[in-house]
Amino acid sequence: MKIDSQSFESLLTKYQTRVDKALDYWLPVESVNPHRLHQAMRYSVLAPGKRVRPVLVYATASALGLDLKLVDGAAAAVEIIHAYSLIHDDLPAMDDDDLRRGRPTCHKKFDEATAILAGDALQALAFYILSHDPDMTADCKARLQMIEILSLFSGSRGMAGGQSIDLASVGKPLNITELETMHIHKTGALIRTCIQFSTLSTDRLSKIRFDALDSYAKCIGLSFQVQDDILDVVGDTQTLGKPQGSDHERNKPTFPSIIGLQASREKTLELHQKALDALAIFGEEAEILRYISAWFVERTH
Ligand code: IPE
Ligand code: IPE
Ligand code: MG
Ligand code: MG
Ligand code: MG
Repeated sequence: MKIDSQSFESLLTKYQTRVDKALDYWLPVESVNPHRLHQAMRYSVLAPGKRVRPVLVYATASALGLDLKLVDGAAAAVEIIHAYSLIHDDLPAMDDDDLRRGRPTCHKKFDEATAILAGDALQALAFYILSHDPDMTADCKARLQMIEILSLFSGSRGMAGGQSIDLASVGKPLNITELETMHIHKTGALIRTCIQFSTLSTDRLSKIRFDALDSYAKCIGLSFQVQDDILDVVGDTQTLGKPQGSDHERNKPTFPSIIGLQASREKTLELHQKALDALAIFGEEAEILRYISAWFVERTH
């Protein structure tokens, strides 16, 4: 598909609206008991996030010529895992932040116990969707592979593991390899999951094309977190919707704190170029993925 920056924007809106509908469908309504837990889950998930991960699921599906209906469940599942990770990330025991997506964090709006449970329940809900959604795939093997990937990449060898490294690294001058390892786990793993969800939704993908998409995913997963670190320094709280300077305040090792702002910017551009190189074997059908990589390193929130 031929796209320009205007049509890219409208595709983003289309994908964001699409996943919001799926999220609304899968999240239990507040009138169902336990009301407070369901209210907290909906409060955090449906808050205005960028929906980066669902966008990646849809964009990859579109590059592979798939019907988007096939990946609605996968897009919702990965966003729900992400929302759970944010709720827990903001808790006093972790980053202790009060603002998320322009609103009070889950534990501030509700209470800590409810925030912990909302995260727990959201994690379970994601796996429920992947195992249950009748629209996703008729292929049980592909469904199991999606469950396998999400459990691996969100667990101790993926996102949760990265979060553990993050907490253990407070005040430590990590070297660049250690810093990359932390980011690849805490953020990169879930971004790789998004792309793999869509590749698992087709049986017509060659190994070469799969590997190319996975390389692309690794580059943008890292660039996304480096840019997140940069925005903690140069962003503003209003635009970010979360407290600027939180990393600095907590003495977190970040790309800017270890290699400086300029080198961090260069790092994102280098990763963007690598992501584009990885897509070289694709034609116009992958243009949306190239735009997404640029968005990740140019974004201001
Ligand atoms: C924030 O993720 C946490 C990171 C992994 C960097 P996003 O920047 O995608 O947050 P939302 O979903 O738009 O709120
Ligand atoms: C969080 O990283 C990554 C997650 C797995 C949630 P950060 O702690 O940097 O995310 P923000 O900056 O609070 O969104
Ligand atoms: Mg954190
Ligand atoms: Mg945080
Ligand atoms: Mg951050």
